[in-house]
Amino acid sequence: MLTERLSDEELRAARHEIYRGRGYHVFRSYLDPRQAAYVVHHWQGYRGEGSGEHGFDKQRLFYEGCPNYSHEYEGRVVHFNFFWNAPSDLLTYEASWRIQRLRNQIEGRHSSENYIATFPYDPTVTRATPGDRLRGVSYRVVGTRRGGEISPHRDWRSDPSKIQMSLFLTAQGDDYGQGGFLFRSPDDTLTNLCETEHLGAGDLLAFRYNNEHGVAAVESGKGQRGFWRILLPIESISPVRCPAELARESVGSMLRRIWRPLQRSSKATETAVADVPTTTDPFLRNLAELAVEEGCSPADAFLPKGLFARWYAMQDWQVEALRRMGLMPHHRVLDIGCGVLRLGLKLIPYLDEGRYFGTDPMEVYLATGHRLVRELLPSPRAYQLMTDRGCGFEAFGTSFDFAIAHSVFTHMSFEEIRNCFRRLARVMAKGGQFLFTVAVDPAFGRDFEESFLYNADTPMVRSYHADFSLYEALSRELGCSLEIGGPLKHPSQTAAVVRF
Ligand SMILES: C[S@@+](CC[C@H](N)C(=O)[O-])C[C@H]1O[C@@H](n2cnc3c(N)ncnc32)[C@H](O)[C@@H]1O
Repeated sequence: MLTERLSDEELRAARHEIYRGRGYHVFRSYLDPRQAAYVVHHWQGYRGEGSGEHGFDKQRLFYEGCPNYSHEYEGRVVHFNFFWNAPSDLLTYEASWRIQRLRNQIEGRHSSENYIATFPYDPTVTRATPGDRLRGVSYRVVGTRRGGEISPHRDWRSDPSKIQMSLFLTAQGDDYGQGGFLFRSPDDTLTNLCETEHLGAGDLLAFRYNNEHGVAAVESGKGQRGFWRILLPIESISPVRCPAELARESVGSMLRRIWRPLQRSSKATETAVADVPTTTDPFLRNLAELAVEEGCSPADAFLPKGLFARWYAMQDWQVEALRRMGLMPHHRVLDIGCGVLRLGLKLIPYLDEGRYFGTDPMEVYLATGHRLVRELLPSPRAYQLMTDRGCGFEAFGTSFDFAIAHSVFTHMSFEEIRNCFRRLARVMAKGGQFLFTVAVDPAFGRDFEESFLYNADTPMVRSYHADFSLYEALSRELGCSLEIGGPLKHPSQTAAVVRF
C-alpha cells in the first residue's frame, strides 16, 4: 500500500478517530506480510558500524558519514536510522519516508516537515543558543524476543497535534505469545492494541502521542521471531555538542544561521506566549478538537501559535477596543478576516438580530465558526458569513457602522491592503469607523512582503511596515482621518482607526 497521501474522505476519517475518537487509527496492510518479513530478516542480520559497541549517541548524528546505529540491550536490538543518513535497507527507508509524509498530512504540516532536523514546535524555545534542541525524524527498528517492557508514559504534552506512527512487522500468536503495545484511550482504558486490534505484520498504527502508551513485556518461544516494529518518533537532538571542527558543517549550525534572521523579521508580530492554552484549558482544547472535526489542520488548531492562541486576550482586546469606540447593539459590524469567529462569538449575542457580518477566504474557518456558534451560543441571533479574499463587501448589500481587521493585514500583500481600503470606503456608513492592527516597527528599515503557506497549504503573503506611510496615503486618498494607536494598546501589534 505504502500510501503517503490520503483522500479528503480518508483524511477526515483518520483525523476523526485520532483526535476526536479512540485516539488512534490503523492502516491495515501498509506493508504486505511478505515485505514485513523481509524487513525483519534484514534487520535481524544487520551488523552495521556501531552495532553493539556504542550506546546510541545523538551527537554523532552530525558527523560526516554518520552511520546507522544499533544498540543491543537485554535481547533487544534497536536500530536508529536518521533520514539524512545512508539507508541500510531500501524498503525500510522508503516505507519510513512515506509514513512520515502521511504523518505530516494527518497533523496538517508541510509534506517535508521533520525529515531533517528543524527548529522545534516547542513554544518554550525562543532562542537558538548552545543547548537548544533540534527536532528530527528517525525511524527506529525495534525487535524484542523477551522482556522489553516500557511503562506507560506520555510524550508531547505541549502539542496535542502530534501522532506517533508504528509499523508492526510481526503478529501476536505467530511471532510472540504475549505482550505488545499498550494504549490508554480517552475513555481511560489501557488496552493492549496488539490483542484487541489483532495488529498483524504490515499494519500501521497512528496514535495520539500524548495519550499514555507503553509496551507490555513480550514472551516469544523457540522458533518465534519476537515483537518487531518500526517506530517513527520525533527525536530531540543537541547539535551544539558536535566537536568544533565539525560544528561548522553541521545541520545545526546551518539552521542557527537561518534562524537568526527569522527571529528578527517576526519580532513585531509575535510576543512571547506564556502558556499553551489548548493543552491547559479544557474549553479551548474542546474548541480545537471541534475545529479538527470540521476539517482544520490539527497543527493549526492545537499549536500555541495556531488558531486558538491567545484566544481570550485577543477576544477581550477586540471587544474592549470596539466598546471604547462607541459600539452599540444596533450597529452593523463587518469583521474582515473573521477566522473561526473569535470576535463573532462575543458580538453575535451582543448585537441586534442580523448585525454581524464576517468574511474570510478559508472556508474551513467559516465552517468551524458556524459550528462554534451552534455549540456555544444557546439561541444565536442571525449573522452572515461570506467566503471572500478580494474584499467584495458590497455582496452583503448593506453599509457598516464599524469594520475591524484584527491581525489580517499581516496576512495581506500591500496591493490587497490598498484594495481593502478602497472597497471599504464604498460600504462604510458616513462617520463609520474601521479598526485594524498591523506589524509596524521602524527596525524593519523598510516595508516588505514575504510569501508563506498559511495552514501549511494556502499560499499567502505577509506584509511588514517600517512606518504608517502606506496607511496615511490611503487615508488621504479616501478623505478619512487616521488615528494611530487606536483606542487601546494592542498586546503585540500596532492598532489604528480610520474614520470615514
Ligand atoms: C491571524 S487570523 C485572525 C483572525 C481573526 N481576525 C481573529 O482575530 O481571530 C488572520 C485571518 O486573516 C484571514 N485572511 C487572510 N487573507 C485574507 C484576505 N485577503 N481577506 C480576508 N481575510 C484574510 C485568514 O484566513 C485568517 O482567518
